[in-house]
Amino acid sequence: MSQLFRKKSIPSLLREASTDTGLKRELTAKNLIALGVGAIIGTGIFVLTGTAAANYAGPAIILSFILSGIGCVFAGLCYAEFSSMIPIAGSAYTYSYATLGEFVAWIIGWDLILEYLFASSTVAVGWSGYFVSFLKDFGIVIPDQLCQAPFDHIPGNGWVATGSLINFPAVALVVLITALLIVGIRESSRINNIIVFIKVAVILLFIGFGLSFINVENWTPFIPENTGKFGSFGISGIFTGAGVIFFAYIGFDALSTAAQETKHPHRDMPIGILGSLAVCTILYVAVAAVLTGMVNYKELNVAAPIALAIDRAGDSLRWLRPLVKIGALAGLSSVVLVMLMGQPRIFFAMAKDGLLPKSFARVHPKFHTPHMTTILTGFFSAIIAGLLPIRLLGELVSIGTLLAFVIVCTSVIILRKTSPETHRPFKTPFVPWVPLGGIVICMAQMVALPVDTWLRLIIWMAAGMLIYFLYSRKRSNLA
Ligand code: ALA
Repeated sequence: MSQLFRKKSIPSLLREASTDTGLKRELTAKNLIALGVGAIIGTGIFVLTGTAAANYAGPAIILSFILSGIGCVFAGLCYAEFSSMIPIAGSAYTYSYATLGEFVAWIIGWDLILEYLFASSTVAVGWSGYFVSFLKDFGIVIPDQLCQAPFDHIPGNGWVATGSLINFPAVALVVLITALLIVGIRESSRINNIIVFIKVAVILLFIGFGLSFINVENWTPFIPENTGKFGSFGISGIFTGAGVIFFAYIGFDALSTAAQETKHPHRDMPIGILGSLAVCTILYVAVAAVLTGMVNYKELNVAAPIALAIDRAGDSLRWLRPLVKIGALAGLSSVVLVMLMGQPRIFFAMAKDGLLPKSFARVHPKFHTPHMTTILTGFFSAIIAGLLPIRLLGELVSIGTLLAFVIVCTSVIILRKTSPETHRPFKTPFVPWVPLGGIVICMAQMVALPVDTWLRLIIWMAAGMLIYFLYSRKRSNLA
């Protein structure tokens, strides 16, 4: 039993953080903010905002964004404390190894696969949809057989074949980005900077030009009356809306996996995490306000709500339409990039600790990147993106991420008690209240997710436990 709770000591982690892993320290605070914004702005704002407003919250989706944003800022403050104090690629996995012991650390490492790996596939499929429709605008048609998942899951009917072969654009995107990530973190970060510039510019254009098309009547009633069902408008709708659009905020934590490639992680990690979160929260609230002001929320139940709002504004905004598609394509590709960057670094940390095969922790002699785990991640991400209907997996990504946030918030409180003297370059304010607030808001959003999602989470975790007991426990460096 005591084996399950064996911990890595803080001094040993700090030694590890300062030894040469072969990874190159290339990233600055600016790169980190760009990577954070790159990871955050994507499907959430370009796709989910409309359906969440139409089905759950109405114009009060603005409040859902603020609520979910507060939960993320609380969790972000905790991530900032840990990532500046223990700047190791393993992120939440490493933090819980120091506080809650090996078993919980393994569980979190396994859980983070749901966040990073599954999110990369989910968003790659979303990207494929936008890409196919973008090409169509130019008269290039990709047959359905080559851009749809070959399998679908129909409630009540189980798995069925769709007649399609593979989602080729999604696979191609994952392969391309994986290759880029192998070549180097600096090269990846440069491409990310360009992509982030494009998507933020498009969002700012939408906010700026959309403002004059707002009809304040669309904001009344601001909180539509509850329909009698929990989560369907009214106050409970704001909470369910928050649970749905939480997906839009996922990604700032992925930055912490780049801690060993950051020049001054003690100072720059908190700037990167909190800076990118602040930028995105402001943009999200503004987009939600403009969107629900331009179009009545009841009409927003569409896959491309921003494009719809532009269409409604008439001819004077039509020039913005293709730009929005380009912005969405850019947005989704940088999300895939940062997710595919985060996952290999967690695997890398787990392999270094012996919980995964040691050969995974090899660093490329020329590129100084964790190429083994990058290829492994790209391989599985491409398979999932190419074959599966990702619709089912989006909520799984959210629940997995929320669980990681809850554990990181809990770990901050524990480590303040067990290791009060350790130097903390950044301190979460008002402990335990801020972490507790993070725990409560994240748990409330977890509860709002469907039972099926919980079941899938439990099955995933059970599979992880099996691997731990059959393989990792005996091979751990601490064994
Ligand atoms: N936050 C990312 C997105 O919305 C995962 O696509």
